[in-house]
Amino acid sequence: MNRTFFIETYGCQMNFSDSEIVHSVLISAGYTPIENYKEADIILMNTCSIRDHAEQRVLNRLKEFSFLKKKKPHLKIGILGCMAERLKEELMLLQQSVDLVVGPDAYRNLPSLLNTVESGEKAVNVLLSEEETYAEIEPVRVGDNQVSAFIAIMRGCENFCAYCVVPYTRGKERSRDYETIVNEAQKLFDQGYREITLLGQNVNSYQYNDVNFAQLLARVAEVNPLLRVRFATSHPKDLSDELLQTMSQYPNICKAIHLPIQSGSDAVLKKMKRKYDTAWYLDRISAIRRYLPDCSISTDIIAGFCSETEEDHQNTLNLMETVGYASAFMFKYSERPDTFAAKNYPDDVPENVKSRRLTEIINKQQELSLKSNQSDVGKTFEVLVEGVSKKSNKRYFGRNSQNKVVVFNHTNEKIGDYIQVQITDCSAITLIGKRL
Ligand code: SAH
Ligand code: SF4
Ligand code: F3S
Repeated sequence: MNRTFFIETYGCQMNFSDSEIVHSVLISAGYTPIENYKEADIILMNTCSIRDHAEQRVLNRLKEFSFLKKKKPHLKIGILGCMAERLKEELMLLQQSVDLVVGPDAYRNLPSLLNTVESGEKAVNVLLSEEETYAEIEPVRVGDNQVSAFIAIMRGCENFCAYCVVPYTRGKERSRDYETIVNEAQKLFDQGYREITLLGQNVNSYQYNDVNFAQLLARVAEVNPLLRVRFATSHPKDLSDELLQTMSQYPNICKAIHLPIQSGSDAVLKKMKRKYDTAWYLDRISAIRRYLPDCSISTDIIAGFCSETEEDHQNTLNLMETVGYASAFMFKYSERPDTFAAKNYPDDVPENVKSRRLTEIINKQQELSLKSNQSDVGKTFEVLVEGVSKKSNKRYFGRNSQNKVVVFNHTNEKIGDYIQVQITDCSAITLIGKRL
């Protein structure tokens, strides 16, 4: 019997990458992916638990799927990913329509779990593994990006930042065999991809036998000079000079570093258990500037963590100014059940104060992004052409090495081409230029 499945993915790039593994596992087992969920025999949601809002979005969407199931009783609904891991069997008690709960290390088991579900029972596998890296599974690339692809190089996290659910949902840190990574990069290049992003919760702590992250990066960059290499996310504690040196030696390793600071206050960083202070972080920023003068730096910031004072908040705004981030992801602190912070600190910054601080952080970043883009006006960048601009089909867009979106008038370039663009104008989010 030919069964069809539909996957909807939430959360970080790692989850999107996992969905590509799930596609691969299910297709190998004889299932067929389809794009319209209303026609699917199986609906899978690959979920995120990072903030309460992320879980609420999943639960709201699940209502729609459950409604569909009332009209179509043979439909099976499965929850994958971080919510599956966090809530385990409880998810099925809370949500009657859910047939299947599968954590991020159990996707090889999906076909046999689906067999159980087909027979009318419910199925759960939320075992975390210390070894699983899905190393040899060839992901099925979904979505319509033919230029840029992601390669997961490590899984899990054991930093246990006080606020964060990831170590509980993703398990122990483990690195994938570097040869399988280099082979996958080569294959993607041969298929026409021109950019890959190496993924992990802490990519720069990658270590496989005697290969560290800087060495892996060099190996991947050597696949072909026309293959751009990016990576995310780096943890400030492991940002080594060796890594920066390697980046400076290969023009195709993109000059963009995402380095989450979370807070500009040493007292807050300590409570967050981030393992660095602002002096360490700023020393790493100086090192980036020294080795890679044209590197863009972006970050993540949490507003209103437990006991954050007005002065702590001001320190965050000051640090943003000092670094001059090109862009940032900014969030209100959301308490996650069972984390160190939830068990040990009261979530005591009032909601309206959190909101106001977040707005100030966003406004500050808006200013800094504009400033950063303005400093690029007049410069010429190599741009990898990615597609047609959303606003006008006469315009195309691509990215420069610094990961900034560049929009230009389309002439004869094709998606996947490298072109030279001189920047003539900008907003806080995009650079606008003309092809040279
Ligand atoms: N491993 C990466 C980040 C993964 S989660 C790192 O350590 O840098 C992505 C971002 O979500 C984090 O950087 C943090 O800014 C934010 N985040 C994580 N837990 C959060 C919480 N409980 N409330 C609000 N934001 C959170
Ligand atoms: Fe979460 Fe910290 Fe691990 Fe990042 S390093 S995933 S913030 S625990
Ligand atoms: Fe969310 Fe899990 Fe990623 S909690 S951010 S999907 S690792």
